[in-house]
Amino acid sequence: MSHRFDVTQNIWEDLYKGGHKLSYPNDVFVRITHRLLDSSIHPRVLDYGCGSGENLLHLARREFQMTGADISDSALETTRQRLQEADLNAELQLINGATLPFDDASFDVIVAWQVLTYNDWNSLPVILAELDRVLCPGGIFIATMSAPGDFMEQNGKPLHNGLYELQSRGQEGALIMIVQEAQLPDCFPGKAIKTGWFAHEFDGIPSHHWIISYEK
Ligand SMILES: C[S@@+](CC[C@H](N)C(=O)[O-])C[C@H]1O[C@@H](n2cnc3c(N)ncnc32)[C@H](O)[C@@H]1O
Repeated sequence: MSHRFDVTQNIWEDLYKGGHKLSYPNDVFVRITHRLLDSSIHPRVLDYGCGSGENLLHLARREFQMTGADISDSALETTRQRLQEADLNAELQLINGATLPFDDASFDVIVAWQVLTYNDWNSLPVILAELDRVLCPGGIFIATMSAPGDFMEQNGKPLHNGLYELQSRGQEGALIMIVQEAQLPDCFPGKAIKTGWFAHEFDGIPSHHWIISYEK
């Protein structure tokens, strides 16, 4: 477990309780999942850190069997309401630590979009091992991690080895990781990862992310 798991959990719970909500799925998420996933081959998808559910709803509309998991009850409540309004179904699960409440090999696909950054070098391998445990053999893992130059780096106090303490309003005290490209294989030892990146900047706010995928 991240040694600031409770800090991160309180931050996101407060943000979602205050109405934080993204209305549409991430465009790169839409393109990557369209390219890699077929609901007739990989039907069961876990959206780990699903937040307010925009990516989850997108895949539910594409007829995947969705499970959403998050550390914020309010995020799951927002997702639940949006599913109801859209007449779609998904299982929703609150995460309370490093152990995932799912059986081994429960999912054909795991997506973890803009979530894994909320870790440190101790907690990251623990959660990645858990996610790998619940992914079935032949399953597909797709995630992002924050890349150098991201606005979180500019709003974080550097600690050591890519670890930052966030100081941006509403996220003060959260620990995040911003890894170099050369560190990605170390984050996923033993996995044949495919990597990529996406970045954009608008109104002075840069957003830089690695994309990581592997087949189990
Ligand atoms: C930047 S938001 C991304 C939400 C969504 N995946 C998206 O792309 O819009 C980060 C999300 O990760 C969740 N989160 C942070 N740490 C987590 C953890 N250890 N386990 C599960 N979810 C976590 C937060 O509650 C929040 O909903």
